[in-house]
Amino acid sequence: MDVRHEGCVLLFMALVSLCAAQPSTVFPDGSLERDFQTWLAFVHATSDPSSFGQSLQLSDTSENKDGSSGIVPDVLGKLKHKIANAEKNKRLIVVAQDGSGDFRTITEALLAVPMKNKNRTIIYIKSGIYSEKIEIPKTKPFITLLGDGENQTIITGNATAGDLVHQFPFDTSLRTYHSATVGVNSNYFIAKNIRFENTAPAPNPGEIGKQAVAFRISGDSAAIYNCSFYGAQDTLYDHSGRHYFKNCYIQGSIDFIFGYARSLYKNSQLHSIANGIGSITAQKRNDTILNSGFSFVNCSVTGSGNLYLGRAWGDRSRVVYAFTYMDNIILPEGWFNWGDPSRNKYAVFYAQYKCGGPGANTDSRVAWARELTPKEAKPFLSIAFINAKNWLQEL
Ligand SMILES: *[C@@H]1O[C@H](CO)[C@@H](O)[C@H](O)[C@H]1NC(C)=O
Ligand SMILES: *[C@@H]1O[C@H](CO)[C@@H](O)[C@H](O)[C@H]1NC(C)=O
Ligand SMILES: *[C@@H]1O[C@H](CO)[C@@H](O)[C@H](O)[C@H]1NC(C)=O
Ligand SMILES: *[C@@H]1O[C@H](CO)[C@@H](O)[C@H](O)[C@H]1NC(C)=O
Ligand SMILES: *[C@@H]1O[C@H](CO)[C@@H](O)[C@H](O)[C@H]1NC(C)=O
Ligand SMILES: *[C@@H]1O[C@H](CO)[C@@H](O)[C@H](O)[C@H]1NC(C)=O
Repeated sequence: MDVRHEGCVLLFMALVSLCAAQPSTVFPDGSLERDFQTWLAFVHATSDPSSFGQSLQLSDTSENKDGSSGIVPDVLGKLKHKIANAEKNKRLIVVAQDGSGDFRTITEALLAVPMKNKNRTIIYIKSGIYSEKIEIPKTKPFITLLGDGENQTIITGNATAGDLVHQFPFDTSLRTYHSATVGVNSNYFIAKNIRFENTAPAPNPGEIGKQAVAFRISGDSAAIYNCSFYGAQDTLYDHSGRHYFKNCYIQGSIDFIFGYARSLYKNSQLHSIANGIGSITAQKRNDTILNSGFSFVNCSVTGSGNLYLGRAWGDRSRVVYAFTYMDNIILPEGWFNWGDPSRNKYAVFYAQYKCGGPGANTDSRVAWARELTPKEAKPFLSIAFINAKNWLQEL
């Protein structure tokens, strides 16, 4: 997300109203409808636990594409065994700034985890403000970061996409991806009771290189409980894989939940600090083969500004809000096609289901936004949406 279009947002406001006037969701070539039906069929198939093996087959290639493991039925047993073993052989590492633990920094604790780690390793980070830039490598799965509470254990940073990186032969910029205070590349990650921050100031409209990620998750099968994410532009890079967020607080201004992942957000608060126009999501599904999308269930949208529920960063972007309270800060049109009418024409999928609050009124939504029927909504409401039956231990 390095070449961005914040400056264009205002310009395209006029376009948005134009687009809103365009009727119909079914197009001559049927593409949007077909893509939607394919997705529904996929999610329905994977929703039924008895068809789990079958659905894995069905989704085999696409599972790989969204960053997940691409498991097939004959290795399902092995996978279960691997996860069970990892959870059986737990290891605890304590991080405390006062020296009472195994290490004083999270960085040191992570170095102590072996490559090709096979055992659930709980890094218990005691209260404190940790100014560390952390990247958990792909070779270290099964890591849990456990804090003392979202206001007690704080991991903070202030890197931005435009920060210069000195390297031969040319200096380069950090880019959005590497601006994250905490970046996770490994699978089976868990975080609990921690605050992740990027304290770089909110950019002015049109300013470039100011994206500042607090947390990036690129590994598959991750669960995040009771965590808060503080930032402005691009707070939470929900990059790729299948993820579960529960009881979280996510603060930002523009595109503060963005990426290619397939994620379920439950019981979470999405809090805007936008001064003017902002957007909660920028989901980047850009190919029909990606089974990616964000589903928000029983969440609340609060704060300031005039917000889009989503901007179509990817031209096949998909976002659903269900049973979600929306404060009076949502732009009536609701969604933005990123200034590219072909995006709403050819298959962005944006919907609401039984949302409430003054911002939830769908009367003036763009014509290409949907209100789901109970049957359509069902697959988005449970952990089946992220195929989590085999790897998630619901808390
Ligand atoms: C996992 O834990 C088991 C049992 O404690 C131990 O034998 C094994 O060496 C550990 N393996 C790794 C890769 O951490
Ligand atoms: C953390 O602090 C914020 C405000 O500073 C507050 O709204 C929130 O409830 C606190 N969280 C917990 C778990 O106490
Ligand atoms: C950014 O973080 C660094 C390291 O913690 C700190 O030295 C610096 O003062 C911070 N900059 C700003 C603008 O907050
Ligand atoms: C989440 O935080 C609340 C308040 O601090 C606490 O009561 C609850 O046990 C926490 N949940 C988990 C899963 O740790
Ligand atoms: C909805 O979320 C709130 C917290 O935001 C929680 O107290 C409540 O139990 C949740 N309801 C359901 C049905 O999960
Ligand atoms: C989707 O985006 C990724 C990352 O930017 C890119 O590698 C890929 O080619 C894109 N796919 C399509 C169909 O544009």
